[in-house]
Amino acid sequence: MTVLITGGLGFIGSHTVVDLIEQGYDCVILDNLSRTTIDVLEKIELIVQRKIPFMKVNMLESQALRNVFTQYDITSVIHFAGFKSVGESVQNPLVYYQTNLISTLNLIDIMQEFDVKKLVFSSSATVYGDLHIPPLREDLPLKALNPYGRTKLILEEILCDLVSSDNSWSIALMRYFNPIGAHKTGLLGELPFGIPNNLMPHLLKVAIGETSKLQIFGGDYDTEDGSCIRDFIHIMDLASGHVRALDYLKKNAGCEAFNLGTGIGYSVLKLIDTFKEVTGIKVPFEIANRREGDIVVSIADVTKAETLLGWKAKYNLSDMCEDAWNWELNRKRGE
Ligand code: UD1
Repeated sequence: MTVLITGGLGFIGSHTVVDLIEQGYDCVILDNLSRTTIDVLEKIELIVQRKIPFMKVNMLESQALRNVFTQYDITSVIHFAGFKSVGESVQNPLVYYQTNLISTLNLIDIMQEFDVKKLVFSSSATVYGDLHIPPLREDLPLKALNPYGRTKLILEEILCDLVSSDNSWSIALMRYFNPIGAHKTGLLGELPFGIPNNLMPHLLKVAIGETSKLQIFGGDYDTEDGSCIRDFIHIMDLASGHVRALDYLKKNAGCEAFNLGTGIGYSVLKLIDTFKEVTGIKVPFEIANRREGDIVVSIADVTKAETLLGWKAKYNLSDMCEDAWNWELNRKRGE
């Protein structure tokens, strides 16, 4: 019962590996180390107190990927590997299409070859586009707003086509809302690569003093305080959602999408407030122009994950801030 985790040294992948091991699964980690470092493996091993097989593989190279399946008795896959920056995808759409699409096509092709037909796929709430009033349910029509989102949407469709053609496949499409926070130990978290685009990495850089001010993208939205509202979810909750999805796939065939969020929305300003309450740090900020492509409110309907997976987020916004800050302090100390 070995689970292959592609992108297993990334932010979501690394936390999921820890949870899987703690739940008794054996894992093989695959990563090309383009957006993370090998130190993450050491940190995972420190937390779970055992060695975990790792292979540095570029998933665009089929033969290298096939070797992983030849070498290990893989029975299911959680596929995180892929690029995830919206801005970068707009600048370099072909890189995004090539990387995210071809690597996934290679993966499912080889899984088919080895008769491995259980897959948890890393999707995103971005597939809901700007069409709906939240809470967002899995059965709503979908829309891509940028190349990154389009890769997720196309892949969801490809995976469901695959299941329609062969009902021995079991695939779960995990639609993430806004994962933040870090592992309780402070050993794992989100590694900043380049200038962070997302809110929490940026907030942490300001809090630690590496950047002078946080820009809030838009203060005149039609919300209680004028800033956008997001369904922030603790990365450890997100990780445990994948473990539950894997358990679900053991008993259920088909292609099912699941939202992973808390079902509660907080504004960007509320997050900054909570961060101050928890850490005592008042993050300097200014209200800047709206960011193109931002949706105003994004909140999950989490009924399906609760009902079918028996999963529910258990950490609150304060936990997310506390753990993110602890990770940032730890990371800084280690530099
Ligand atoms: C973004 C992506 C989404 C992707 C997700 C995960 C966009 C438009 N959306 O979601 O497709 O799935 O990341 O990688 O890029 N904010 C600030 N100041 C900052 C950074 C962010 O005010 O410096 C605000 C944003 O305007 C937004 C909120 O914080 O209202 C959350 O932003 P972010 O963390 O980038 O996540 P999303 O935009 O929700």
